[in-house]
Amino acid sequence: MFPLEVESVLFTAEEIDRTVGRLAGEIVARTAGAPILLLGILKGALMFTADLARALPADATVEIDFLVVSSYGSGSRSSGEVRLLKDAGERIEGKHVIIVEDIIDNGLTLAYLQGLLRSRKPASLQSCVLFDKPYNRAADVPIEYKGLLCPDAFVVGYGLDYKERFRNLPYLARLREEALCADIA
Ligand code: IMP
Repeated sequence: MFPLEVESVLFTAEEIDRTVGRLAGEIVARTAGAPILLLGILKGALMFTADLARALPADATVEIDFLVVSSYGSGSRSSGEVRLLKDAGERIEGKHVIIVEDIIDNGLTLAYLQGLLRSRKPASLQSCVLFDKPYNRAADVPIEYKGLLCPDAFVVGYGLDYKERFRNLPYLARLREEALCADIA
């Protein structure tokens, strides 16, 4: 059952699930058993962080923490300004840190986070992004783990919102133009 505002499903829950499994496998292969700290970026990466953590082997040493940032304000356009609303609780110095981000568009959010976290001297810093919109990059950011190539559209679901709605959809969807009209006008 779809909300009326949804135009189409871009990635089903099954496709997302398979991709999360693939990314977990890549993390295991690349970190070779080292303890890792998954640093999820809220609110968008809430579902992704939880699913990625559970897709890692049960005997892996995994810490989980979160940062809250805001870059889109409450609409469908990036404000271009990234604000740290809540910092991580754990110290990251000397740890193998993986930033877990829902989606990358212009790259400014990830560039800001990588700069901030690098200054705290982790043993290593990598980034894992589920959805990639590579069309409007304004910052060149390294991404070690990439999930799915996303069309150049505003998308919702699996943690991603429009004005705080649709985060609970288990799939990634495109919204109807009319639903975004207020922003576009
Ligand atoms: P960037 O700074 O433009 O790379 O955008 C990154 C952040 O913007 C993500 O963490 C999301 O919170 C938000 N974002 C980017 N594209 C979308 C989208 O299509 N739907 C919902 N949020 C988005």
